Amino acid sequence: MKLNIALLAGDGIGPEVTEQAVKVSNAIAKKFNHTINWTPAITGAEAIDKVGEPYPDETHEICMKSDAILFGAIGHPKFDNDPSAKVRPEQGLLKMRQKLGLFANIRPTFTFPSLIEKSPLKKERIEGTNLIFIRELTGGIYFGERGRKDNGNTAFDTCTYKRSEIIRLAKKGFELAMKRSKKLCCVDKANVLESSRLWRETVKSMEKDFPEVEVSYEFVDAVAMRLVQWPNSYDVLITENLFGDILTDEASVISGSMGLMPSASVGTEKALFEPIHGSYPQAAGKNIANPLATILSAAMMFEDAFSLKEEAKLIRKVVNLSLEQSIVTEDLANGEKSYSTSEVGDWLVNNI
Ligand code: IPM
Ligand code: MN
Repeated sequence: MKLNIALLAGDGIGPEVTEQAVKVSNAIAKKFNHTINWTPAITGAEAIDKVGEPYPDETHEICMKSDAILFGAIGHPKFDNDPSAKVRPEQGLLKMRQKLGLFANIRPTFTFPSLIEKSPLKKERIEGTNLIFIRELTGGIYFGERGRKDNGNTAFDTCTYKRSEIIRLAKKGFELAMKRSKKLCCVDKANVLESSRLWRETVKSMEKDFPEVEVSYEFVDAVAMRLVQWPNSYDVLITENLFGDILTDEASVISGSMGLMPSASVGTEKALFEPIHGSYPQAAGKNIANPLATILSAAMMFEDAFSLKEEAKLIRKVVNLSLEQSIVTEDLANGEKSYSTSEVGDWLVNNI
């Protein structure tokens, strides 16, 4: 098979971790007789520095022409502490999601048996955790009307949702639940927010189309609590953009390191695969960042974008093997011997 993949390495550790995912993907392609054609494109701070814009049109065209997109991370500290900055790397990410129509962000949290002790939570609470958040990604407060009034002394951000946006997101949740344990949790704040009441009303109206799925409705604050108490009680969760942003960061560390969890952002046509973590600027260029989240994102890409299940399975298998044999970066090494980002990548390639 011929795979045309756009490669958006981005900022910070993005280039280092995507490099490992490319190496691993190429090794998989060689083994299974595929040809991967990678087309690199710029985003984030790198693109602002080069062309003054974090998601340039040329990058968008490359993404549109590709079958899938592998993305690293964007963000740079030089913009974070400058409230007057007119362009920010993060705007590139939001523009990219919107222009590519990536309305559903699929973020799993699962545990690795060999890393159970590394979790900040007790073993008995996390054993068997295998949940998936489907976060709405192109609506809500991220994209609503915002501004200042009263001479700049009052600020507002509005959260708006259309029924149609909720339906298309919830449909993904119901469909995924049908393939798993048929349990779906709709996370909202319907005791306070009108937009949440529309979410709940809409999801309820869809229950009849998926009679086998058992749907629970929970408030976001309660979910935040239960996620650290009994993460293994959840299966598929659907939620709006901002709640999903916060809860998926919380969930991502349950496995033991933020450097482990992959994600996919999907829409009607395009799909993008990226690690859940950010650009981790403190580690940039040091060859110490954990590449596994990006490598597991490449596994998701093989499976979801190209239906290449065996290829994805092999990536996950060697990743598990590396963890069992403690071929890990320093975030997982607990003061014992650690390996560099590229050494972990090389080890995986050799074992493929
Ligand atoms: C994420 C990030 C982004 C978000 C930022 C960088 C805009 O935190 O992908 O979760 O808030 O969506
Ligand atoms: Mn986030």
